[in-house]
Parts: sequence; structure tokens; C-alpha cells
Amino acid sequence: MSIIDGKAISGQIRLGLTEKVAKLKEEGITPGLAVVLVGDDPASAIYVRYKEQACTDTGLYSEVHRLDAATTQETLLSLVERLNTDDKIHGILVQLPLPNHIDEMAILRAINPDKDVDGFHVINAGKLFVGEKGFVACTAKGIITLIKSTGIDITGKTAVVVGRSNIVGKPVSMLLMEQNATVTMCHSRTRDLAKVCAGADILVAAIGRPEMITGEYVKQGAIVIDVGTSRVDGKLKGDVLFSEAEKKAAFITPVPGGVGPMTITMLLENTVEAAKIHG
Ligand code: GUN
Repeated sequence: MSIIDGKAISGQIRLGLTEKVAKLKEEGITPGLAVVLVGDDPASAIYVRYKEQACTDTGLYSEVHRLDAATTQETLLSLVERLNTDDKIHGILVQLPLPNHIDEMAILRAINPDKDVDGFHVINAGKLFVGEKGFVACTAKGIITLIKSTGIDITGKTAVVVGRSNIVGKPVSMLLMEQNATVTMCHSRTRDLAKVCAGADILVAAIGRPEMITGEYVKQGAIVIDVGTSRVDGKLKGDVLFSEAEKKAAFITPVPGGVGPMTITMLLENTVEAAKIHG
């Protein structure tokens, strides 16, 4: 069994990005990311701080807009519109989830698709669906990068994705299909989940249920990607019961240190790409 070291792979990609940013700066372009955080969800606050730090480390310009939980949809929309026309800003990220009184899809749709470095706008989601080039959701992009890092050819493999979210499950299924995997999408209503998962050469667990994927879900020799980040008694837990899954998997991502670091690295990559295209 080999551990897929997301932290190390992410570190290598960030080195390359730091060089790219330095070159862009010589051409007079400083890639800029605006992050918008509404409310005081502690997990979101931590993610936003990581994103800010990653920008600083890589040489990007970043600004964080922290708004009160009671912020109206109109106020948030006008901030997004201002950022859409701000030349310093190449990428806009509105941290999810948003408070219940705000229509999340309406906010995402207001972001200029050319600055949608999260890949959540319907235009970018649609481009992925039809196979056109656009921004791809960062976690999904990170997962494919990790799978490719194993050197295993994805073509013809059986891939099972557990979880059907717009952020992970749906985009990662599209990307796996694009790489010629035979993809099955599973969710909370799937029958005989363990049996379906046990047939997977590539298993992606993105359900948000700590350690639900036990050894019986894992095929001998599988690649297991754990997207879970649940906090249990102050400790970060994945969706996979690592101690059992590692006995059967050929490659497995740890939590923490697997998918997590890749998500922010792909966000930096998308922002640098946006700056390169639209300067
Ligand atoms: N909330 C959890 N993951 C993400 C993400 O990748 N982007 C945004 N904007 N919000 C999130």
C-alpha cells in the first residue's frame, strides 16, 4: 500500500506556481484573488485563512471581505458586481455555505464566469458537462491530479463516486468519465452501497460521514480517495476508516494531508490561469 501524499504533491505544484507568478509580475500582471466570507462559521473562517496564507506564500495579491451574518443578498450582490469589474481581481470566491436567507445559486450566477475560479457558476459547470474548457471545481481537479500521480492509467477502470454534490461528486464524476473511466455515482439512497463500492478500482468518498467506508467497501488493489473532513472530538476524520481500508488499497489518501491541501493549490492554479488569460 502506498500513501498518496497530497501535501508533498501540492507543495511541488505550488513551487511551479510561485515561478509562474513571478514571471507574470515581470510582465506587469499580479494575479489577484478576492475571497468573500459571510457569517462566522468556524470551519469556513479557517479555510478562508488558509486561502489567504496560500496566496501570500505564492506571491498572489489577495483580499478578504468578511461580512456580517445578517448581510442582505442585495449587499452581497453589489460586492460581487464591484469585484467583477475590479482589474486587480482575477478570481472571485464566495465561501460556501452562505446563510439561509441568501440564495446561493443567485450569488454564484452573479460572478463573472471568467473570474469564477471555484468553477461553481452554471456556465463553468455546463462547460465541464459538455467537454469545453472552463474553470473546474478545485476539489475535483485536485482529486484527478492525485489519482494521476499514482501513474495508474484511468482508462477502462471502474470508478465509484460516493456523494453527488455540485462541489465534489458531480464534477469529479465528469472528470473521471473524461479520462475514460466507467463511472458509478452513489448517494444516500443507493442500495447495497458496500457491494457497489467493493467493485471499484477507483473509489472516491465524498459523503461527509466520518469513517463510514470500512474495509468491506474496498476492493483489493483499489485507489481510495478520501474527501471527508469531519471534526470528531476536535480531530479531523475522513469518510474512510483508514486502518481497515489501507490493508486492501494499493493507494490511499490520508486525512489530513490528502485531498485538503490540493483544493487550495488548484484554487491558486485557477487564479493564475485567469490572470494569464485576462491579464
Ligand atoms: N465550501 C467548502 N468547500 C468550498 C470550496 O471549494 N469553495 C467555496 N467557495 N466554498 C466551499
